Amino acid sequence: MLVIIRPNKEVASIQAAKIVADQVRRKPNSALGLSTGTTPLATYAELVRMHRDEGLDFSGVTTFNLDEYYGISREHPRSFYSQIHKNFLDHVNIRPDRAHIPNGESKAIAKTCAEYEDAIRAAGGIDLQILGIGRTGHIGLNEPTSSLASRTRLKTLSDETINDNSKISGDIPQVAITMGIGTNLEAKKILLLAFGEAKAKAVAKAIEGPISSSCSASALQMHRDVRFILDEEAATELRHRSYYDRVVEQTKRYAPELLGGTND
Ligand code: PGA
Repeated sequence: MLVIIRPNKEVASIQAAKIVADQVRRKPNSALGLSTGTTPLATYAELVRMHRDEGLDFSGVTTFNLDEYYGISREHPRSFYSQIHKNFLDHVNIRPDRAHIPNGESKAIAKTCAEYEDAIRAAGGIDLQILGIGRTGHIGLNEPTSSLASRTRLKTLSDETINDNSKISGDIPQVAITMGIGTNLEAKKILLLAFGEAKAKAVAKAIEGPISSSCSASALQMHRDVRFILDEEAATELRHRSYYDRVVEQTKRYAPELLGGTND
């Protein structure tokens, strides 16, 4: 696990975008796992800029969104379909037939979820999964007590998540289709982004707490290639801060590619 702490969310997001861009350059037919919410917005904006100004080519890329509210149309402005289109997909050259988002209007939920898992497998698995973290420690919408082996399925949102997400976008459904924690753990690489002090407790539990379904993100401790990219505020509850900084220093020396090539 690499814990990369940057002075602010802007610098952190640019670094995250470099890591994603590097993945796409090294493997142009990568499958990327995308998340929505406010956290990855600056990373997407930087990827869009790289596409526009530097010709970063997404034409071979496949994407899988983590989750989608259940029971609203995809055209609804609060759907994750609308959000990822508005903030990323509409501005890069990812082929529409390769951009996968769970169908929040499906009348056959179990089938839809199984087919989503099949599509991920058919794409060869997710090469790089971008994750945020909720105040509850959720990844995707795997709320506390989600099975650490869970797969894509319908989940009921916690009160905290309903409150947090409604503050941003107004009333939202109580349920969502989300990739499971087991699905996430099969991604070859994972980038978890967290910014702001509201996330500090969840981040510390995820990185330094026991592996427990009480904090879904703690399951990432079992993943071989996970990088947490944090701003200072999200890092305030970490006990081993100075160690993480030393690890990043040595990584810069010996494996700078893990940091997106540069770390300045
Ligand atoms: P946020 O949500 O980026 O809007 O804070 C993150 C999450 O709930 O996973």
